[in-house]
Amino acid sequence: MLSVLKHPLADHIITHLRDETTKPATFRTLAYQLTLMLAIEATRDLATDEKIVKTPLESTPGRVLSVQPIVVVAILRAGVSMVQPFLDVFPDVSVGYVGLERDHVTAVARNYYCKLPPLAGRRVFVVDPMLATGGSAAQALEVVKKKGAVNPGLVCIIAAPEGVEEVSRHHPETSIHVGVLDRALNARKYILPGLGDFGDRLYGT
Ligand code: PRP
Ligand code: URA
Repeated sequence: MLSVLKHPLADHIITHLRDETTKPATFRTLAYQLTLMLAIEATRDLATDEKIVKTPLESTPGRVLSVQPIVVVAILRAGVSMVQPFLDVFPDVSVGYVGLERDHVTAVARNYYCKLPPLAGRRVFVVDPMLATGGSAAQALEVVKKKGAVNPGLVCIIAAPEGVEEVSRHHPETSIHVGVLDRALNARKYILPGLGDFGDRLYGT
């Protein structure tokens, strides 16, 4: 299932992320802000429990998050930019990393690193800003499922239709949350209109 952010603030942030004149410092802030919106959207279905709370005036029933630890798994390196927003809004988040790098010629991703907390019984979100061919995300989802994740979600800033299709083919149960769905990939497997290489824009490389 694909869900695309629909909010004027998301449109505003994405437009500035795309702008080639946006400098890395601003780019990082914008990526943080958009991921915050995505984190809230992707967790709409978190379970809650009733809790009676005493205001200064009276007692009232409210709801609090049920105990179900969240794990965010960032795909290195650009996915690192999406970790902090999750940490800032949810109290119990553990973080894992999967290192994947696309070959510049074939665009096929190579797995070079993996460090994961326990995943069984936890709510797992794989985060990576760019879903292009979908090769990196599909591999990362495979890795976390092998390590015990059930129905892991995927959270991305920009997706190409090709990437959504690839992930849905390999992981039909995965909910994909994106900031925007772009038009297509170019011959070098970059997203159009996209924003270029997210990692380079983020770190000024
Ligand atoms: C980028 C991006 C994704 C991947 C998406 O990473 O952050 O991980 O490409 O492409 P795909 O859907 O075709 O697999 P890259 O491999 O350039 O590594 P980096 O984050 O280290 O720059
Ligand atoms: N990775 C990126 O950073 N950008 C793209 O357009 C495709 C893959």
